[in-house]
Amino acid sequence: MVFIISPYPFAVYGDIMIEKITSSPEETIEFAKEIGALLKAGDTVAYTGGLGAGKTTFTRGLAMGLGLPDDVTSPTFALVNEYKGKNITLYHFDMYRIETEFALESTGFFDYLDGRSVIAAEWSENISEFLPENTIYINIERISDDVRKITVKGDDRF
Ligand SMILES: Nc1ncnc2c1ncn2[C@@H]1O[C@H](COP(=O)(O)OP(=O)(O)OP(=O)(O)O)[C@@H](O)[C@H]1O
Ligand SMILES: [Mg+2]
Repeated sequence: MVFIISPYPFAVYGDIMIEKITSSPEETIEFAKEIGALLKAGDTVAYTGGLGAGKTTFTRGLAMGLGLPDDVTSPTFALVNEYKGKNITLYHFDMYRIETEFALESTGFFDYLDGRSVIAAEWSENISEFLPENTIYINIERISDDVRKITVKGDDRF
């Protein structure tokens, strides 16, 4: 038996990290589905990773894992897309052009942090100071045309 001595009764957010290498968009979607199945209302997923890294592709899998339709498209123009399911709603943001707190507020971001839905935000670099404490961080690094290194940082669900 292994005893872990920790000053905290539970794992602290940001303590747990998993890493996954995928070699195709399909593999990324499969992995994202597994992560999506672990999510619950009140979770905020913050993506980092450059242009074309696979954030929207990952969100497609996330939606599937949450039991939502997989018709996820980039929220580039709308800034936020809503995917409503029977039990949960996913708000998928693109923060690429969000530069001020006022702009962020006008997307409705703060209203959706009410614990009743899941938020997934691309380009979360731009809003890092406004992310809640329990944020789940997902970094997607482009290794080559088809290979990505995906890092998930969150609590002990992951
Ligand atoms: N292993 C992989 N995982 C995810 N996407 C991959 C992978 N290999 C290739 N791709 C391709 O990379 C592209 C990722 O595009 P996607 O729109 O998901 O990225 P994004 O990070 O949301 O981009 P943007 O910053 O423009 O919003 C797609 O064309 C996808 O097919
Ligand atoms: Mg995108």
